[in-house]
Amino acid sequence: MNIGSLSLKNTGILAPLAGITNFPFRILVREFGCALAFTEMISVNGLVRESDRTFRYLDTSSADKPFGVQIFGSDPDMCAEAARTVAERGADLIDINMGCPARKVVKTGAGAALMKNPPRARMIMESVRKAVSLPLTVKMRSGWDRDCANAVELAKMAEDCGCDAVIVHPRTAQQGFSGKADWAVIGQVKASVKIPIIGNGDIVAPEDAVRMRNMTNCDAVMVGRGALGNPMIFRGMASLFAGLPVPPALSIREREALIIRHLDMELAYEGETIGMKTFRKHLLWYTKGLPGGARLRNALGAMKKKEAMLNELHGFLDALSRNEV
Ligand SMILES: Cc1cc2nc3c(=O)[nH]c(=O)nc-3n(C[C@H](O)[C@H](O)[C@H](O)COP(=O)(O)O)c2cc1C
Repeated sequence: MNIGSLSLKNTGILAPLAGITNFPFRILVREFGCALAFTEMISVNGLVRESDRTFRYLDTSSADKPFGVQIFGSDPDMCAEAARTVAERGADLIDINMGCPARKVVKTGAGAALMKNPPRARMIMESVRKAVSLPLTVKMRSGWDRDCANAVELAKMAEDCGCDAVIVHPRTAQQGFSGKADWAVIGQVKASVKIPIIGNGDIVAPEDAVRMRNMTNCDAVMVGRGALGNPMIFRGMASLFAGLPVPPALSIREREALIIRHLDMELAYEGETIGMKTFRKHLLWYTKGLPGGARLRNALGAMKKKEAMLNELHGFLDALSRNEV
């Protein structure tokens, strides 16, 4: 699978997730075979202002390859300048956000608001395309709302502007995250352009990715929430797409080792005080649905130190492995 000049080792891609797909998380999913991982959406204003806080989203390393960076904005010139900055700072691919439905984003004319303003969407794609030679993608919804379900039109426009692939999350912006992703839209977009189409939405198990590909003929599959507490999903997808069975689930000890590895990376990156806070949500995801998990989750708030968290986790997993909960 190629996106412009970029060749991917398989067809499993990590979605941009605000507050989640930071440097450590991207490294982790890559260790499980993820072929391309994205930063969260980054404001072009912050990039153009050269804000240190914004530049932190671009922290990366040679292990974080290929490095996808998603930008959002509504001003074509600023988007172009931000794209140049991002290219200079190590991006291997740039994605333009046309799908974010958050009020604070759409009220500025960025994100999913671009789907109801195709002329502006075109200007942005053209100016970013002119500014950088990197592979360029656009991530969109099925449309703004039911009356403006124009993903096919915008995908054709993206192709016309020289974008190298389109990512489709087939819910309207109005839907937010409610209801089910309408994979049929991915198929319609795929049938109407020649550039690769990356399907996204409601993939929670490797088998879902195969179903999506079979139903839509998409070229690659992007996973967001299904990777939370479950980076192993990429290993399963890579196996299935290679015609192999899904590897067995991690043992409890392997799961513990994975959580510790993730925690160590998060603490090394954020420092202990912040890292212990930002890691809590991951621990919730790692233990979601496990018997006795509620007790662990209740104890989490009080844990300020790594050792306390590891002790609690170890006790929890030990009890689980002895089937005592
Ligand atoms: C917490 C959260 C943060 C997100 N942040 C972004 C983002 O920064 N940029 C973006 O394009 N989409 C973002 N999304 C949307 C996802 O990339 C993805 O399109 C959506 O969750 C559907 O895929 P999934 O069902 O695999 O999660 C976010 C979604 C969630 C749940």
